[in-house]
Amino acid sequence: MAKISVGILGATGMVGQTLVQLLGKHPWFEVTELAASDKSAGRTYEEVMASRWNISSEIPEYAKDIKVKECLPKLDCDIALSALDSGVAQAVEEDFAKAGYAVSSNAKNHRMDADVPLLIPEINADHADLIKEQQRHRGWKGFIVTDPNCSTIHMCIALKPLYDNFGLEKVMVTTMQALSGGGYPGVPSMDIVDNVIPFINDEEDKVETEPLKIFGRFSKTRIDPADFGVSAQCNRVAVKQGHTECVSVKLSRKADIEDVLAAFKEFRPNGKLKLPSSPEHPIVYLKNDNRPQPKLDVNLENGMASVVGRLRACGVLDYKFVVLGHNLIRGAAGAAILNAELLKVKGYIG
Ligand SMILES: NC(=O)c1ccc[n+]([C@@H]2O[C@H](COP(=O)([O-])OP(=O)(O)OC[C@H]3O[C@@H](n4cnc5c(N)ncnc54)[C@H](OP(=O)(O)O)[C@@H]3O)[C@@H](O)[C@H]2O)c1
Repeated sequence: MAKISVGILGATGMVGQTLVQLLGKHPWFEVTELAASDKSAGRTYEEVMASRWNISSEIPEYAKDIKVKECLPKLDCDIALSALDSGVAQAVEEDFAKAGYAVSSNAKNHRMDADVPLLIPEINADHADLIKEQQRHRGWKGFIVTDPNCSTIHMCIALKPLYDNFGLEKVMVTTMQALSGGGYPGVPSMDIVDNVIPFINDEEDKVETEPLKIFGRFSKTRIDPADFGVSAQCNRVAVKQGHTECVSVKLSRKADIEDVLAAFKEFRPNGKLKLPSSPEHPIVYLKNDNRPQPKLDVNLENGMASVVGRLRACGVLDYKFVVLGHNLIRGAAGAAILNAELLKVKGYIG
């Protein structure tokens, strides 16, 4: 089978380099183009990344000699995986979709557009078919799909078995988000060492609104949002990778704690849709009271798991628990790749 050619937009950033690394040995995809700003364009990827590569393994051989280009829609690829800064993603992604490219984006810009799918394959793979409405409505040959915010993704995966089994009325979440979530170079070290910053621009709004679209009902041309309430408080902490989220939920139907625990442990949505990057266990439940921890658990299932623990009764709502997830893998690059795999299975690319 000929591989599907992939261009990475924003290939030099934190998410972009994670895409470069994850796509090194992909069974369906082959990276043919790397693109970034005009500051980076014109030099090889190895030269540009000499002082910016932030992953413990080497830059993959295949990428080293690729010449970085500007993000213009004349790249030699079938699909563009976008890890662009949100300051430029809006127009660049639209230009690519207009020119006929499929775009799988990590950026916030198009997530809440009524005709753009906001995908987590284990939850709402059917929403991908909103692409037809997007192309009809905008007259585009290509299209854009997006993955959710990095905290939203892990929280929604943890909520999915609760939503399916017991219904959801209210969700309260407090996040402790890693430094790499803010891009490179991120928060200055003098501001974050020995400190917690109780504000991340725009983050609480994303975590409160995106889940309602993700759990919404798709009906051919639109998505009717789900109707549970979400309240979020987001904090930046001195952790390199891995967002930790303390979540409390009010369920629609009464449930024993054993049933809630079983719902987490038995969550196996991939039987129906097994993609190359699908984790075997999208939720890993850890039973020790002091887990999950970013230092110990962030790489479970190759960074594609949402790691849940500390399920207990909540004195105000029904139950509370902790979920931890890799912000750069399942929370971004791995999610965009999974969405691209879904697009292939559904016949939108390849
Ligand atoms: N970090 C995370 O955990 C995470 C999680 C989920 C979603 N996201 C989203 O993913 C996107 C990338 O995040 P990141 O953390 O990788 O950010 P980053 O490290 O700041 O990287 C931003 C990328 O955008 C490129 N860029 C900036 N200005 C440009 C321009 N005018 N034209 C073309 N390219 C330009 C940069 O290229 P140069 O190097 O050439 O400047 C770089 O490749 C953002 O939209 C972010 O919100 C991030």
